[in-house]
Amino acid sequence: MKNILLCVTGSIAAYKVADLLRLLQQENKNIKIIATSSALDFVSELTLKTLSHNQLCTDNNSTGLEHINLSRWADIIVVAPLTANTLAKISGGFADNLLTQTILAADTDKIYIAPAMNTQMWHNKIVQKNLKKVLKNNKFHLIAPIKDTLACGEYGIGKMAEIKDVVKIIIKKKQQGLKGKKIIITAGATIEPIDSVRFLSNYSSGKMAYAIVSDCLNQGAEVLIVEGKTDNLPNPAIDKQSKKRLKIIKINTAEQMFNKVMENIKTCDIFISVAAVVDYSPVNPATNKIKKTNKNIQIELKPNVDILKEVASLSDRPFCVGFAAETENLQKNATAKLKNKKLDLLVANDVSKKDIGFASDDNAVTLFYGKETKKLPKNKKTIIAQQTINTMILLYKQQK
Ligand code: PMT
Repeated sequence: MKNILLCVTGSIAAYKVADLLRLLQQENKNIKIIATSSALDFVSELTLKTLSHNQLCTDNNSTGLEHINLSRWADIIVVAPLTANTLAKISGGFADNLLTQTILAADTDKIYIAPAMNTQMWHNKIVQKNLKKVLKNNKFHLIAPIKDTLACGEYGIGKMAEIKDVVKIIIKKKQQGLKGKKIIITAGATIEPIDSVRFLSNYSSGKMAYAIVSDCLNQGAEVLIVEGKTDNLPNPAIDKQSKKRLKIIKINTAEQMFNKVMENIKTCDIFISVAAVVDYSPVNPATNKIKKTNKNIQIELKPNVDILKEVASLSDRPFCVGFAAETENLQKNATAKLKNKKLDLLVANDVSKKDIGFASDDNAVTLFYGKETKKLPKNKKTIIAQQTINTMILLYKQQK
C-alpha cells in the first residue's frame, strides 16, 4: 500500500491533519489531499500544500475528471475529520463537491472515516442512522471518535480518534508479538473502606495501565483488566477486533483484586501489575459513617496481601511484570523489589515528581531485568508503554 488520499472536512479537528500527514510520511506513504472549502476555513491551503509535498485538490482547482483519477490512484481513502454534514451527504449519495464525488466513485472497502463532532450531534439518531448506513451497506471502516472534553467545552464522545490510532488503523501495522497470549493487567488504585463513606486510597488514574493495555491489544494479546478506581478513561481498545479481545472486571479493595486475579491466573501467560494497590486496610471498617468528635481517633490497619508476590510465587507462574512507585533511592529499592518479588521485569518510576508518575499523561521509567537496566526518558505514557512492551516481548520470547 503506497497511495493515501486524505480527505479533510470542516471541523476544528482539521488542524490535526498536519500531524497525521507527518506520521504517514514517516511511514513512506504518497499522500494527496482533498480539502472541502469549509476545511480550508480551519486549516490554510498553504499549510496543506506545503506539508503534503504533493497535490492539494480543492473544488477550485479540480479538473473535470479529478474525482475518477483520485479514486483510482488511492490505495486507501481516509476522511479525517468527517463532519456530520459530509457524513449525511455521503450516506445520501450526494456528489456536490470534489470530496463527495470522489467517495462516490471509489471502491468502498478502501474508505476509512474518522468522525469528529459535538457529542449531542454524534448521538443524534439521524447521524447514527447515516453512520450505520455507510458502515453496513458500504462497508466503510470506522475510526471511532473518543470521549473527552470537546472544542465546544462539553464532555462526551465526539473527539476525533488520536492521530497515532488513526495511523495504526489505516496502516494496520503487523505488530503481533503477543498474538494468542493471555494477559492480566491490574489497573488504578484499590480503595480500602474506613467506614461507609470514607476510604484509604492513592492518586493512581489508571492512565499508565490503560496505555499498557492498549499496546498489548495492538500486539494481538487477549487482555483482562482487573481495575480499581480510575479516572474516566476512554476504552483502550482502538478497534472492533481489539474490543473483542478485552475484558474488564471492576473491583474496589486489594482483597477483591487478589481474588479476581487468582480466579483467572491459571490460563494466563503474562501478569502485569500496574495497579497502585493500597498496602494496608482498616481492620474493622465501620458499617455506618463514623461520627465527628473533638477527640483523636485511631484506625487500626492490617497489611494487605501482596498480589504480585503471590502470583510470582505460584509453581506454574506466568511471566511477571511489576511496577515500582518510588519517591527516593529508586535504583536500590527497585533492585530489591525485582529480587524479593522474583519478577521477570520491573518498571520503576519516580512518583515524587508532579510532571510524571501518578495521574500525569507523561512518565519516565527505568526497566530492571536480570542484571540489566534500561532508562526510558520522559515521554507520553502511550510511548513509554510501547517501549516497555517491546522489551517485555523480547524477554518473554527469550524465556520460552
Ligand atoms: O495510574 P497512573 O496515574 O497512570 O499512575 C501510574 C502509577 C504511578 C500508578 C504506575 O506507574 C505505578 O508505579 N504502579 C505501581 C504502584 C505501586 O503500587 O507500586 P509499589 O512499588 O508499591 O508496588 C510494587 C508492585 O507490587 C506493583 O507492581 C504493585 O502493583 C504490586 N503490589 C503492591 C502492593 C500489593 N499489596 N500488591 C501488589 O500487587
